[in-house]
This record gives sequence, C-alpha cells and structure tokens, in this order.
Amino acid sequence: MNTRHQPTIFNTQDASRIAFELYGLHAKARTLPGERDHNFHLRTEAGQEFVLKIAPAAERSNILDLQNKALEHLAAYDPSLLLPQVCTTSVGEAIATVTAADDTPHYVRLLTYVPGRPFAEVKPHTPELLYSLGSMVGRIDCGLQNFTHPAAYRTLKWDLQRALWIRDYLQHIAQPERRAIVEHFLSQFEAQTLPKLPVLRMSIIHNDANDYNVLVSDTATESRQVISIIDFGDMVHTYTISGLAIAATYAMLNKGDPLTAAAHVVAGYHEAFPLSVSELEALYPLMCIRLCVSVTNSAYQQKIDPHNGYLVISEQPAWTLLEQLMDAHPRLAHYTFRHACQLAPCPGANALVQWLESNSDKIGRVVEPDLRVVNKVIFDLSVDSSELGNLAEVSDVELFTRHIFERMKAANSSVGIGRYNEARLIYSSDIFKSAGNDGPEWRTVHLGLDVFMEAGSPVLAPLDGIVHSFRNNSSPLDYGPTIILQHSVTGRQLSFFTLYGHLSVDSLDGLYEGKLIAQGTPFARIGSHTVNGGWPPHLHFQIIADMLDRTGDFPGVVRPSQRETWLSLSPDPNLIVRMPEDSSPRNGLSTEQIRQVRAQHIGKSLSIAYQKPLKIVRGWMQYLYDENGRAYLDAVNNVSHVGHCHPRVVKAGQEQMAVLNTNTRYLHDKLVLYAERLCATLPASLSVCFFVCSGSEANELALRLARTYTGQKDMIIVDAGYHGNTTTLVEISPYKFDGPGGTGTPAYVHKVPMPDVYRGQYKRTDLDAGEKYARYVEEAVQLIQGRQSKVAAFLCESLMGCGGQIVLPENYLKEAYHYVRNAGGVCIADEVQVGFGRAGTHIWGFETQGVVPDIVTMGKPMGNGHPLAAVVTTPEIAAAFNNGMEYFNTFGGNPVSCAIGLAVLDVIAEEHLQANAFQVGKHLMDGLRELMDKYALIGDVRGLGLFVGIELVLDRKTLMPAPPQASYVANRMRERGILLSTDGPFHNVLKIKPPMVFTEANADYLVAILDEILSED
Ligand SMILES: Cc1ncc(COP(=O)(O)O)c(C=O)c1O
Repeated sequence: MNTRHQPTIFNTQDASRIAFELYGLHAKARTLPGERDHNFHLRTEAGQEFVLKIAPAAERSNILDLQNKALEHLAAYDPSLLLPQVCTTSVGEAIATVTAADDTPHYVRLLTYVPGRPFAEVKPHTPELLYSLGSMVGRIDCGLQNFTHPAAYRTLKWDLQRALWIRDYLQHIAQPERRAIVEHFLSQFEAQTLPKLPVLRMSIIHNDANDYNVLVSDTATESRQVISIIDFGDMVHTYTISGLAIAATYAMLNKGDPLTAAAHVVAGYHEAFPLSVSELEALYPLMCIRLCVSVTNSAYQQKIDPHNGYLVISEQPAWTLLEQLMDAHPRLAHYTFRHACQLAPCPGANALVQWLESNSDKIGRVVEPDLRVVNKVIFDLSVDSSELGNLAEVSDVELFTRHIFERMKAANSSVGIGRYNEARLIYSSDIFKSAGNDGPEWRTVHLGLDVFMEAGSPVLAPLDGIVHSFRNNSSPLDYGPTIILQHSVTGRQLSFFTLYGHLSVDSLDGLYEGKLIAQGTPFARIGSHTVNGGWPPHLHFQIIADMLDRTGDFPGVVRPSQRETWLSLSPDPNLIVRMPEDSSPRNGLSTEQIRQVRAQHIGKSLSIAYQKPLKIVRGWMQYLYDENGRAYLDAVNNVSHVGHCHPRVVKAGQEQMAVLNTNTRYLHDKLVLYAERLCATLPASLSVCFFVCSGSEANELALRLARTYTGQKDMIIVDAGYHGNTTTLVEISPYKFDGPGGTGTPAYVHKVPMPDVYRGQYKRTDLDAGEKYARYVEEAVQLIQGRQSKVAAFLCESLMGCGGQIVLPENYLKEAYHYVRNAGGVCIADEVQVGFGRAGTHIWGFETQGVVPDIVTMGKPMGNGHPLAAVVTTPEIAAAFNNGMEYFNTFGGNPVSCAIGLAVLDVIAEEHLQANAFQVGKHLMDGLRELMDKYALIGDVRGLGLFVGIELVLDRKTLMPAPPQASYVANRMRERGILLSTDGPFHNVLKIKPPMVFTEANADYLVAILDEILSED
C-alpha cells in the first residue's frame, strides 16, 4: 500500500558527498526505498550506519521538524525504544538544505540506522511476533500521548479521520464487484461508526505502521520480536486508535484467519497502552476503512500513473483481505478484540445470564420430561471419551445412534444429554473445517445442549417468544430443520434468542417470522436421522445473545481458538434447562498443570517433545488428537505400527484380558501359536523365542545368550547406536555413553564407525563402501584377539535410528558377520525399531542385507503399543542358555500380549502394510528428493520403506550440520499439525517413521507443509 517509487535526482555518490560535506562522514551509500524522500543507507569505514533522508523542499520543513521532534520526544520518554535518532550536521542543524542537479532545493536529515528485517518479509508471523507488533505501536502511542506540534494538525489522505474522501474516488476502482465491497464497508462505516468517533481519544500518532515500516529482530523465530518502527512521515494528530488499526490491518494480510492475527496485535497494544471500550468498538471498522482507503488510493494512483508497478505492491493481498472480511461480522470482530483485551467478549451477555439466573422460576421446559428431575444419561462425547467406541464407530451414524439409545435403554431413561462447551471429535468432516493461521482448524466445541430423545418427541417453548427465523439446513451433517425464537424481556432492553436444531421437517409447517409462540407450546418435534442432517435423533438447544444478523442458522460448534468469544455469545443452555448435573465437561489438566506435576513427581530426565508441548488424548490410525480435537498427522510413532488404537488389536487385547492373563508357567495355546507365527516370518535357523516386555529387555537377554554361548564378554558395536536403557545396554550404546551424562566406552566394548555413506569416510558413490566399513569390524576383532581375548558378539541395528536413519551399505552385515563368526562371536540384529515390514521390501531389516543373524531382538512395533518384545535365536544358542538357571519373566509371553502380537501379525498381512510401506515410502522419498532441488539445506534424503531420514546441512560440501534448523522444522511442523522428530549424532536429521497405514496423500501433505516451512526464514 505504500508506494515505493522515487525519481532518481540524487544518486549514491551524491549521498556520500552530502554525508561528508554536512556531517563529516566518510560513508558508502546504498539506495533505500521511500515514498516521498530519497533515502540512502550509509555505512562509515568504522561500521557506523545511518539513514540519509533527502526531501524536496516542497515538503514542508515543519513536517520534517514534527518528525524530528517526535523522535527526540520518544527517545527521552523511553530510551529502550529502538527508534531512529536524529543526528545534526557539523554546524548543529537537524535539517539542512542542499540543491539537486536540477537546481531544486532539498532538505536533508540524518538518522541513525535501525537494523532489522521488514515485517512484510518475515515468515512466519507467530502470535508472539504479532503481539510484539501491537506492543511496539502501543508504546509509541503511549510515549506520544502528551506530545504536541503544530504541524501535526494537517490534512492527510492517510488520516482515518478523513477517510470519507474515498467516496468521490470509488469510480477509479475498475471492477464493479470490488467497488461494491468498498461501498459496503464505507456505508457501514458512515452509518454505524462515524457518529461514535467523536468520543475517541486523539493524539499525535505515527500513523503508518505498515509492514515495511515495522522492523523485526533478526533472531530465531521463537525469540523474534518487533524491535522498531521507522518512517514517521505520515504523522498526524488524529484518533489515537488509528495507529493500531493500521498496524493490525497490515498484520492481517496474507493470513488464513486474519481476525485472530489482528487479535494478537490488539492484545499486545492493550498491554502496553490500555484501550477504552469505545476504542475497541471503533477498531474493526477503522481497520476495514483503512483497507478501503488503501485500495481506492491504489486504484486512483494507477489511473494517473499506469506504469508505476510499485503502486500496486500490496493491492492484491489487500483485496483478498477485504473479501475475507466480508465474511466476518463486525460485531464478532469487536467481540474477538474485546476478548483479546480480557473483557467479556459479548457486552450484552452478562445481563442475559443474570436475568436467566434470577428468573429461573419463570422458565419452562424445552421437552416434555422435566429435565431437572427426569432420569437421564449424560453422555461424554469429548475427544478422550471411552464411552462411544473408536473414531470409526462414532462416525457411523447408525452405530452411534444405536449406541446412544441402547445406553439410554440400559439406564431405563428416555432422555440423553450431550454437553455444552465440549470439544468433540465427531465433527471431522469438511463442513466443520475452517482456515486458521497454522493450517485448517476444525470447529469442535459444542455451543448447545443436545437432548437425545426418540424422533417425533415434541419440543416446547421455554419462554414466550416470536419466530425470529427458520430454515431447513439440509446439507449432510448440518442442522436439518431449524427454528430460532426471539425473546424480549418486558420493561428491560433485553432481547435474546433460542435455537432448536435437528427438528422434523413438518416442524417448519405454518411458521412465519414474527409468529407468537407462547411459553409451553409444543411448537416443533425432534427429527429422525434421515432429515436432521444425519445425526442420532436429538434436539440441539442453544441460547444466543447476538444473532450477528443471521437467520435460520447459527454456529452450533466453533473453533477451539475462538471458544471464549463464542461461549460468551452463546451462554450455557442449562440456564434454561436447569439440570442439576454438570452441563459441561469438567476441565482436564491443562498442559501447564501437567508440566508442574511432572516437574514434581516425574523424573526430569524424561524429556518432553516440542517447545510447545502437546497434550494428546486420543489416537486413531496415523493421527493423534489433542484435547480440543485437533488432529496431528503422526509421522514418527513407529510403535503404533498398524495404526493407533487399531480396533483389531484393541479387541484382541480386551477379549483376552477379560478371560485370562497369567504367565508362561502354564500351558496356553496363544504362546505357542504366536511363537510359531513369529518364527514363520524368520529364516529357519531362528526358531526359538523368548518373550519379554521391552526392547531393552530383549537386548539385555540377547547379551546373556551371547555371553553364555561364547563364554566371552567383549562386544563390537556401531558408533551412534542405541540398544536400550539398562546399565549394560547404556554401556554398549554410544548414543548414550558418548552423550551427555555418559562415561565413555567401557574396556570390553569396541566401537566401530557408523557405516554412514553420506557423512562417513566412504560415500554412497563408493560401491565397496559396505566392505570397507566392515573392515573396521575386522580390526575390532583383531584388537580383541590381540588382547588375548575373544569376541562375544557383534550387535548392530538393521537400520540405524538414533544414528540418523542410516541405511547400511550393501554387503556391510555380510562382511561384518563373516569376520565376527570366524572369530567365534555371534551376530545379533537389533530389529527393535525397524522390524515387522517397515523396510518395505522385507519383513526384517537384516534381510535387506542378505544375512541371517544368530540372535534377533524385536520390540516397539510388535504389540502396537502394548509392551511386547522378543528374542529369537537358534536352537544351539538357546540350548547353551539352558544351563540350569531358570529364565523367568513375569509378564513376557502372557496370553494378553500373545493375543495382541498375533493380531498385529494378522493386520500386517491382511492390510498389506509391508507393501504399503514400500510404495508410500518410495512416494514420500521421491517428494522429499524433489525438495532437495529447492532447498540447499536438505543435504540428504535416505531411507527404506517407511523409515526415512532428512539430513539438514548448512553447506552441502562441508556437510556442516544444521541442528537448530532441524529443531525449528520439527517444531514448526508440529504447529502445522505434523509430528516428526530429530536425531543423529548432530541432531540434524529429521526422522520419519509413521504408523504403517500412512498413505500417499499423507506423504504429499507432509512434503507440501515441509516445503512451506523450509521457505520460512
Ligand atoms: C534400536 C533400539 N534398540 C532397543 C531399544 C530399546 O527399546 P525399549 O525402549 O523398548 O526398551 C530402542 C529404543 O528406542 C531402539 O531404538
């Protein structure tokens, strides 16, 4: 919106000359953009930086003086404000005069340069950054509130006091639809806002916090702040609030949810310089009118200067924003901003609540049974509810209906209640989807009270009212037939509404707007699922304080991020229904509360993922859900191998748990069936199983087997490997013993380099890399032998996870096993991370290397989250272990675990998950590799099946790792609704290992969002 064109009367040499002649500075000049002034950046040899501003003398010098005085005033008021400082010439002038080549006189000013990046060029605009923008504008306005200067009382097209000038210029907007938009906002402004403006505070303000005048610190995203505002050239004495209106308007550009973005700015401003109630009321109309001034000005300027491209620089986003705002009701915006300032969002709602509370004896029923006393079932439909089955069951309306009515029948009740202010997962279809600033947000929070009753049950008017509006909202999952009554309280200026949704179609017969409905009249009936939008029969009953000029419809579920505003608009329906039971769910613990209790009662060495930790309350297939029902695409939890809460696995566990859970000392079919099934997936020699409860237990047992069988202790392990959390496993896990708190390599442990063909000594292009890395194993064997000892075992992950998603080069294990076996050692494959088909081409990772280990350990995915793990070995090794000492494991191999393990194997086979891993993994890696062409930060994309790593580097030649960038991406992906993690020796590898039900569409989405995040700065 700011024009960025300037005629070139002064060049950089002129600027350097003027800097020297007037200010005694030896400086290099660079041109800066400016609307009226010729602006130059100066850097002296000593590194000092300035801005030289040269304005035509046609610009009144008193306006320049106004700017200088304001900057001086602000510097004195709050030295911590990082604003430009006025510098004087060698003879003490704040404004000097020079003559241009064309003999025109010009004024010159020198200001200190404030480093920073224009807000417009910073991505993303986080809530914290937006808040700091508001705060900066507020601090400046606060500083200027007592500042006076005669030149500020001027006529300026950007002064919102004078915005109506655009009325005469609307004809310059070429497209009639666009002109209509501006006319709409202008008329609304004239009719509703203009009369209220005279009460607003007035002061001299900066008046131009546009997104190129706002400077942002050049720090990491999390700590990024607005540090300064420059260009005081549009200063004027006007409504104080205008400055905020302008800043918030620019902050709304290019946002999915502009009002929420603006609300952050408003909150920051209010904290720094509190707003009055009338200012808050005028704010949104002023924002809209500022946009209208901008687009009208652009249209006019284009007419008179059609070749000036700068004039339209931000015109398109401004139009898009205006179109977005056409859908936002001004009072909703007003309530949103009031909420941002911690005021009751809807100002009239308090009086309504009080009236309903104090007149409860005058209120009648909404259905025939008296809900205050009747026996009823209060349903828990919240995100983590265990009452209504899994997500698929809840989305099946017939099943859902059966479930609801069976529960009511079992409780001998004809009425069920669905609660108010409850975040639910049942609203997962696209009609509940809306744009947020971090991707889509679903409307999940219920604003009404549901009364589940048989279809046909009458609905009564609880109070006298008139029909405000009615409509059949007949789209699937909508309200179906809906009636809204309006109630007016005699003798008081109080009017409110009640909404009745999901009615029968004949409920609308004979209705007309204004029809009187007396209290107690059965004016409608509950509809069946065939007409009510496809829901179990129920009445959706809602109180509405402000209809926001809608008819026949009103949101019954809203976005969690706007919850408080809407709850204020629609207070608790139980004010009318008056059930003694809780009408809304009790709040669970907040993330902050959980963190506090964790800090006290949970060991601090347990880490929490993400800078903004997540409270996850439900899982379903490849998705995890937070308490507000936000879905996160899970790209990292390989433990939930066949999908979170896979119903087949859940059922197997539940059923067996209800029958028997004991231990391996009794004979049980499932133990042996499972052992047979598991062994059938492995090479024939691996035929003896030991069931345990964790990957650590499995590796611990594998060590005992190896030691007993060989009679030796020396271990060869691979650098950066991780094998578990026990004392011994930490001793053989370089990931731990070389990391923080580690005590280094024990004498019996021999660490060989990780066969990393990206970062290691031998690269991917070296066809013999596998053999060459295996030679380190040979050297380790020789070292052990040189110490008159023998190797017990070589332990290696089949694909390395903590090491950074490393795929072993061809022949690595073949050669390494050869050296180890020749020396009498055994070979252990740690499949704890990667087994069960994740590699795509094979069930087991070691198979991709063409080897057969002597011992295999497995865990994580084996029980789909149930603690189930195993060691499988050869009969010889198992026989050696049978040395008289019993191996007993209380839980390992119990019937419940075996039932679950069997179900997991069934699902992998029946749902062809290994083939899926192969196909989707390839698709994903293709997409990620395409990103490599766009972002030099991606040094490597590697993986097998759905075990994928993205290594981030600052330099593709030196491979300088980029851990902060990896952490940034993981945290931003989480904000955008995708979960992944970082790992590798330098913490610069993004790990992707999703549940195996991950789809190509999921992969495409991941790649698209990653693309957006990598384009941030
Ligand atoms: C390769 C590998 N082995 C063993 C383990 C230990 O398994 P658990 O955490 O189940 O004890 C892990 C866990 O991350 C692992 O990644």
